[in-house]
Amino acid sequence: MRKDEPRMGRSRVEGPALGGSRREFLRDASVLAGGLAAAGLFAPGAFGALVDQPACGFPTPPAGTEPQAQAYTFPAGAPQRVRRSLQEVVADPAALQQLVNAYGALKALLSPPDSPINWCNQANIHYNHCSFPGPNAYYLQIHFGWLFFPWHRGYLYFYETILGGLIGDTSFALPYWDWTTTPVVPDVFFDVNSPLYDPNRSIVAGQSIVDDPEVYYYTQASYITYLENLPNYSPPASNPLAPSFGGPPDDDEGNPQFQGKVEAGPHDAVHSWVGGDMGSFDTAARDLLFFGHHANVDRLWWLWQQGAGHANPTSPTWLNQWFNFWNAQANPVSMTVADAVNPQAVNVVYKALPQALAAAAPRPRASGREEGFVAEGNPVTLPLASKQRALVARESLTAFAAGELHLEGVETPHQRGIRLRVFINKPDADASTPITDPHYVGTIFLVPMRSQPPLAANQHGMPAHAHNYSLVVPDRALALAKEGEEPKVTVVPVRRAEKAAGVQIKLKSAALVRPK
Ligand code: C2O
Repeated sequence: MRKDEPRMGRSRVEGPALGGSRREFLRDASVLAGGLAAAGLFAPGAFGALVDQPACGFPTPPAGTEPQAQAYTFPAGAPQRVRRSLQEVVADPAALQQLVNAYGALKALLSPPDSPINWCNQANIHYNHCSFPGPNAYYLQIHFGWLFFPWHRGYLYFYETILGGLIGDTSFALPYWDWTTTPVVPDVFFDVNSPLYDPNRSIVAGQSIVDDPEVYYYTQASYITYLENLPNYSPPASNPLAPSFGGPPDDDEGNPQFQGKVEAGPHDAVHSWVGGDMGSFDTAARDLLFFGHHANVDRLWWLWQQGAGHANPTSPTWLNQWFNFWNAQANPVSMTVADAVNPQAVNVVYKALPQALAAAAPRPRASGREEGFVAEGNPVTLPLASKQRALVARESLTAFAAGELHLEGVETPHQRGIRLRVFINKPDADASTPITDPHYVGTIFLVPMRSQPPLAANQHGMPAHAHNYSLVVPDRALALAKEGEEPKVTVVPVRRAEKAAGVQIKLKSAALVRPK
């Protein structure tokens, strides 16, 4: 961590209230301990301009290796934070106002721009951890493997602590956005006068996940149940290609294995669905929906851990991995994976959505209507090599997981919003082939690390980038890939209609894994 001592603000914040009116509220500067000087951060009017056109740039990552900051001491006796559903928070005017105040204060910290705990610099912590391997990989890559859950848990912890500090409430808790029960983002997130607004999203007010069937596929209750029943956090050594909840051990992105199923499934799908800032990892955490999204991802882990026989990794490599963040006093601190999994340290629980509110979730349209998608480059068809591996015992398979399809060396462009629709034995599949076709296997939602190609190789030294992906193969599609008949896989790149640009994808190999 390399920021100088930050300057912190004076005690008055001008923030927008709901419904377009503005209201002043007081912020108690004493909550920001550490001898921070009052320095006039909150210029009147600065906030309005920010809502319209947030100014946020990317830092240049330094070369070398990140030094570990001083270990964070989790405060003893701190109140437990109870994260509630976004839907419940929005229905509670006092809780919603608190959320708006906290985000308003965070965005108001933008001027001057060097506070490490302001909205932009906090988002850039995430940007920095989307680095690529190479000579200048200063930060860890925390996606595509077993660090995904604990790093994001730590990030949420400190983000929440900072927000709570800004409004003087040590029990402040982020809401979680449960896409399953709340498939429509509450309208307040689309109010241009609210700090919850992000002008760059692809989705608009009222748009529902249930109207986008291939996103809904990964957020529906039955898929979440499939995820919650996955037996292993990481694939067992005896079966390294098995699907897992949390992903394999990784050494940045050189790993030939596959993401955990939560990361690859609803996590990626919802990033892609929201689009805009959320559509690529460099900008994702600029959208405050990111934190509701990741609180829900974290809730899935919290729930999974309570399942019979479920255990987190015990490897010291995992437990001792540390991450640097900023605390509420804007000092650099580190925490470990062991802290992230220690309930006494992070001390967060999730409250279920009250039944009465849950009953209101929209149902998918019977027609499975798809929104406008167009071809994005050409479909690619490959023969399927067969990998005969036992994934899990046949008896424990579900409709979602009759087999696994592995796509290796998938090279994709650095553009947002591209989806790869995958079909078995349907070589004529194209952008017009409906996903209700029985040959449809699933969709890979590409969430690129960068919204644009890097300007210079030393900006994380990003090569044309290849990843491995795996999809669960539903029974009906597996049945169409008969043994001994040389099945083929066809990958159809599409994107939302408004933005076709004609890029190519490449694929090295594909393999079908059947259960024993
Ligand atoms: Cu670090 Cu949802 O991404």
